[in-house]
Amino acid sequence: MKKLTIGMDVGIDLGSDTVKIYTHDRQISLMEPTMVAVDRDTDEILAFGSDARQMLGRTPERIAVISPVQHGRIHNFSLTETMLTAYVREVCGNRIFMPRVVVCVPSGVSEVEKREVVESLRAAGARKVCLIETVVAAALGAGLDISRPCGCMVCDIGAGTTDIGVISINGTAVSHWINYAGNSFNEALIEFIASRHDLVIGPQTAELIKREIGCVIPREAVLTVTVKGRHFRTGMPHMIRINSEDIMEAFEEPAVRICRAVQHTLEETPPALAGDLLTNGGITLTGGGAKIYGMDRLIAERTKLNVNLAQDPEICVALGTGKAIQFIDTRDKFEKETSPLDVFGA
Ligand SMILES: Nc1ncnc2c1ncn2[C@@H]1O[C@H](COP(=O)(O)OP(=O)(O)OP(=O)(O)O)[C@@H](O)[C@H]1O
Ligand SMILES: [Mg+2]
Repeated sequence: MKKLTIGMDVGIDLGSDTVKIYTHDRQISLMEPTMVAVDRDTDEILAFGSDARQMLGRTPERIAVISPVQHGRIHNFSLTETMLTAYVREVCGNRIFMPRVVVCVPSGVSEVEKREVVESLRAAGARKVCLIETVVAAALGAGLDISRPCGCMVCDIGAGTTDIGVISINGTAVSHWINYAGNSFNEALIEFIASRHDLVIGPQTAELIKREIGCVIPREAVLTVTVKGRHFRTGMPHMIRINSEDIMEAFEEPAVRICRAVQHTLEETPPALAGDLLTNGGITLTGGGAKIYGMDRLIAERTKLNVNLAQDPEICVALGTGKAIQFIDTRDKFEKETSPLDVFGA
């Protein structure tokens, strides 16, 4: 029988691609794909996370592999709830008190969307749920001091959303988001290979190519890979060679869109905070999508600001939700105005 222990607090990054859960003892305790495999006929849930991802593209008609969170927002409420229940249980085990949770929400979410996040976590067993904006969590996780009256800028390039914000005194002064992020590069690549080479590839192949030779500025040496798929016209298995210069061409549109969103946010930033960015570290990039080769240098070229890729960028938001746990008690007691946390309905 499992040992009963007292309650715990957890930080959750409910990402479109990966759910990450922070706990004090193990830091990132869980990192699982935001995916659920469902039997279409019976609605039975067959697998979660990496087990569900393995089924992607290899399932019979009857089985659907669903991403219940898309572009950072809950797309399928009941599947999100069931998935979170399984993940929270895996991390918290058999405890007397259910956890208090800090969870991130992207900028610009509506009150209805916030309520959905809170309710899905309450249904998953959370005793109390506090919300934090994704960019604020990302800044905390990247180790930035956000408590001072001095602007710092974060651009979190996730899988489905790029969230950009200028932060000062624990809150966002300006924020902006677009539905272009890591997945957009995969989609652009799939389209490019289909139109240039008559080859149909799946998202997992696109992901591998992106990670291996993808770039948004020229690499020092041109890299080449072999890509296997199905020929568009003959329907037969087919193979081509593709190099990093081709990929850079395919990646131009999503890369430019992300740069423009950063520029747009800068244009909206009040002059004093914009001035701070010249001396206060410039722009910090977080999120897994920021790992695309050259993204930091491209944004630096376009904005003429210093751009730093955070350490382990894909876990910054989760680390930040974890660091924000300390604010749960202070928010309750006295620091509501300057707390980075939002308790829905409070
Ligand atoms: N080495 C890499 N090179 C390029 N892209 C990468 C690399 N590693 C991860 N990614 C991309 O990072 C993205 C996932 O990042 P992250 O975990 O920050 O997203 P998320 O938080 O789940 O999504 P979102 O924030 O949009 O809801 C995926 O699109 C993945 O392809
Ligand atoms: Mg994210």
